[in-house]
Amino acid sequence: MAAQSGKSWVLAVTAQTPTNIAVIKYWGKRDEELILPINDSISVTLDPDHLCTTTSVAVSPAFTHDRMWLNGKEVSLSGGRYQNCLRELRSRASDVEDEQKGVKITKKDWEKLHVHIVSYNNFPTAAGLASSAAGLACLVFSLAKLMNVKDDHSRLSAIARQGSGSACRSLYGGFVKWIMGKEENGSDSIAVQLADEKHWDDLVIIIAVVSSRQKETSSTSGMRETVETSMLIEHRAKEVVPKRIVKMEEAIENRDFPAFARLTCADSNQFHAVCLDTSPPIFYMNDTSHRIISCVEKWNRFEGTPQVAYTFDAGPNAVLISHNRKAAALLLQRLLFYFPPQADADLNSYVIGDKTILQDAG
Ligand code: DP6
Repeated sequence: MAAQSGKSWVLAVTAQTPTNIAVIKYWGKRDEELILPINDSISVTLDPDHLCTTTSVAVSPAFTHDRMWLNGKEVSLSGGRYQNCLRELRSRASDVEDEQKGVKITKKDWEKLHVHIVSYNNFPTAAGLASSAAGLACLVFSLAKLMNVKDDHSRLSAIARQGSGSACRSLYGGFVKWIMGKEENGSDSIAVQLADEKHWDDLVIIIAVVSSRQKETSSTSGMRETVETSMLIEHRAKEVVPKRIVKMEEAIENRDFPAFARLTCADSNQFHAVCLDTSPPIFYMNDTSHRIISCVEKWNRFEGTPQVAYTFDAGPNAVLISHNRKAAALLLQRLLFYFPPQADADLNSYVIGDKTILQDAG
């Protein structure tokens, strides 16, 4: 290390990464270690103002081992996923020079230097709001900046993928596709941007936080059990999703909201159907989630054309996508009417109005 000997120094980088919500879901791996999926998936990246992870990473010769804090609590970095990301990034690190601090780190130095990582989610962690997606994407992105990794976003997405599958899609804004790839080493299992954040900027996303409790079955173990026990999952991955991906790409390209909404709702419902087809069955949605679905379905049927799309990840919280601000305002009115905040103390877990987050999708 060419920093002046005897002098202590710290180099740090801070980055923010938004979460993403899948409209065609990833569920099931063909390789657990490399995190290779059994189907392509498509997501929309949210506005970073509301649901995002902020991560600061630092390197110093004074650090004796790699450490990480998540939301103020130290977490272990010993897990294979973190280790895989750190190893990949270290192997791609380049020389870094900070003239002001008199610091020069060579490519070789990165093998010995340790990093400290401080990460903060501005939304509930592990409650089915894709916290791991934003978290791992941010970790990889900020470390790549610190270590002067020169790979482009698609190569970085392949590293983030090894931290958490859905994380690879959070490296881009707008609409993103995670291509499952064919190679055994996962080199072609990467995320690509389908359309940037300006392409369809009148969409509005409302998230109804039905429960911010941590989910009982993690996505990782849930999808493993589905692949091992569900008879429907193969049909979904091989027959249904490939066709839906083509149609969803078309709907996004043409800003065709009715098609987009029908595909999004159908895919969410099928994902929860394969969860039910798992043994033992996995229940991510609750009664409130089902009531929200009925409410949206009735409204869409009444209007004759979809006004709102719903999708639920591995938890009961509803992600509702309206095709414009007018539809979003009407939707909010309805949600507040049917699920009024603090209406009854017994219904506290149904309260969504005061936690609803309104934001642009772009
Ligand atoms: C339902 O990416 O959290 O949100 O790869 O095991 O970390 P691991 O799983 P994760 O699964 C996300 C599943 C999902 C659907 C999706 O985001 O596509």
